[in-house]
Amino acid sequence: MSRLAAFHDLSPRASSFRDDVLRGLGASPKRLPPKYFYDEIGSALFDAICALPEYYPTRVETALIQTHAAAIAGALGGRCALIEFGSGASRKSRLLITAARPAVYVPIDIARETLRQAAEDLCHAFPELPVVAVCADYSQPFQLPDLVPYRPRRRVVFFPGSTIGNFDPDEAVAFLANARGLAGAGGALVIGVDLRKDMGVLTAAYDDPQGVTAAFNLNVLARINRELGADFDLRAFRHRAWYAQAPGRIEMHLESCRDQDVRIGTTRIAFACGETIHTEDSYKYSVPGFQALAARAGFRPAACWVDDANLFSIHYMTC
Ligand code: AVI
Repeated sequence: MSRLAAFHDLSPRASSFRDDVLRGLGASPKRLPPKYFYDEIGSALFDAICALPEYYPTRVETALIQTHAAAIAGALGGRCALIEFGSGASRKSRLLITAARPAVYVPIDIARETLRQAAEDLCHAFPELPVVAVCADYSQPFQLPDLVPYRPRRRVVFFPGSTIGNFDPDEAVAFLANARGLAGAGGALVIGVDLRKDMGVLTAAYDDPQGVTAAFNLNVLARINRELGADFDLRAFRHRAWYAQAPGRIEMHLESCRDQDVRIGTTRIAFACGETIHTEDSYKYSVPGFQALAARAGFRPAACWVDDANLFSIHYMTC
């Protein structure tokens, strides 16, 4: 079995869960950062969301990559360094690796053990491919390891899943500018972006009848109970998700079903009946809308693939 070419641990700073929770719930309106959804239970619930019939993004993006693998590989050219942000289990990148045969694959993720396991599995599946794993918080600027020994022709950043939609537009531009800096001159970006569409399709994707997304959203309160010794009564909050037309985003909230006080350690937080905690935004873009956003970060649109039902887009952009 082949071995990992390298594992670079940039020791991403774990921001303080307690500080972020107390700050967010002390603010008006109340909010919680979406990154705290993804503990072990939350990550398993997110995998379950991705398998729901109503949650089309994963299914449609995967099919788009499969259908257009040759065209995407043609755009990338041979022997690129394929750098994936938030690589997780590296499922979608396998399709690109098979088609594009990169000189080196660089998965980047903050979840150290998931990253190590995924990188080792990839080495097994692609014994000829050098895999240089980087444990880092890709939402913050960081330095890539030296890739010159692998003699890539160019660097291509791969950011699937429409996770770009979880940043507000100004944060998205800052994130894309950082990606552009990493790709460098002659580099490129391949990014999955969810499209604006019928409101019914969108709300069903974020408020499924099986209640999986509700369990995912409520798990953040259960996590606060588990890790910070809080006493949220999960039956006294309900999942809410709606499409806000003007900003073009799904908003997820947790709504208090009654007037209540919650204790987090020694801090008491008061909730009025109907008051919400804003837990996530998921921005949706038109193709020209996303191209304009990426242009603010210096990217030039070069190709775009969209499914027949106009649900999802994959953009190829150059630096
Ligand atoms: C990770 N991210 C792209 C998902 C989304 O669609 O915004 C997170 C999610 N939240 C609820 N369902 C899925």
